[in-house]
Amino acid sequence: MEDIYSRKYIVNFLRETGVLEYKILHSIAVAVLALKIAGKVSKDENYLVDKKIVEAGALLHDIGISKTIDDLSPNHSSIGGELVRAHNYSEEIARCIEDHEYVIWSREDGEKLDMIMIRESFRPETWEEKVVSYADHVVFVYSECNKVKDFWEDLRCLQKASLPYWVDVFKKYFLGDLDATHPFIVRQYGHQKEMKKFVDPSFFADEEYKDIAEKMQKAQIEYGLKVPFAYADEL
Ligand SMILES: [Fe+2]
Ligand SMILES: [Fe+2]
Repeated sequence: MEDIYSRKYIVNFLRETGVLEYKILHSIAVAVLALKIAGKVSKDENYLVDKKIVEAGALLHDIGISKTIDDLSPNHSSIGGELVRAHNYSEEIARCIEDHEYVIWSREDGEKLDMIMIRESFRPETWEEKVVSYADHVVFVYSECNKVKDFWEDLRCLQKASLPYWVDVFKKYFLGDLDATHPFIVRQYGHQKEMKKFVDPSFFADEEYKDIAEKMQKAQIEYGLKVPFAYADEL
């Protein structure tokens, strides 16, 4: 019997499902970072974070993108949850995937974005869910927007990184204008405030992370994405 939780199996599964190479590299970068954050949470919070859930949840968090294709479909999170349930992954893992956007705190929020709301809220609750969602956002700010200084010095860096993304998403879904006062953007402040203490500069100096982040950026450029990603310097 193959271990469906092993990194090797999951990377093959992502490929077979149709996740593009640059997204697979992004998912590995999120997993590498998430495991480090999980270690720190376990130490500081006197709670043993389940690393198997964190690693598989992080590797699989964007699997729904195989169905939505573009990067402006936040409903890839709910699609991903259903996909992994159908593939016999645990409920804990499905929830890490559904909750990774972080900002969907009500059925109404999700339905506006075509999400299948099988729960009232997709707000991360467990440490495993919080770690996966946060690692995704940290990779975004730190290695995709290349805002290293802001990450350490500005608690609003997640808001600044999220704003251009959500502006484009709202345009795509004809939801009107979105500005920095929208709850989706404001919520990112709390996210950074709660979780930043679990990140250490050594996490990024580590060869494994540096190597995967470099490969991810290279693949994003080859795919034709504008790298670094848009960032709202003024907020
Ligand atoms: Fe995602
Ligand atoms: Fe992601």
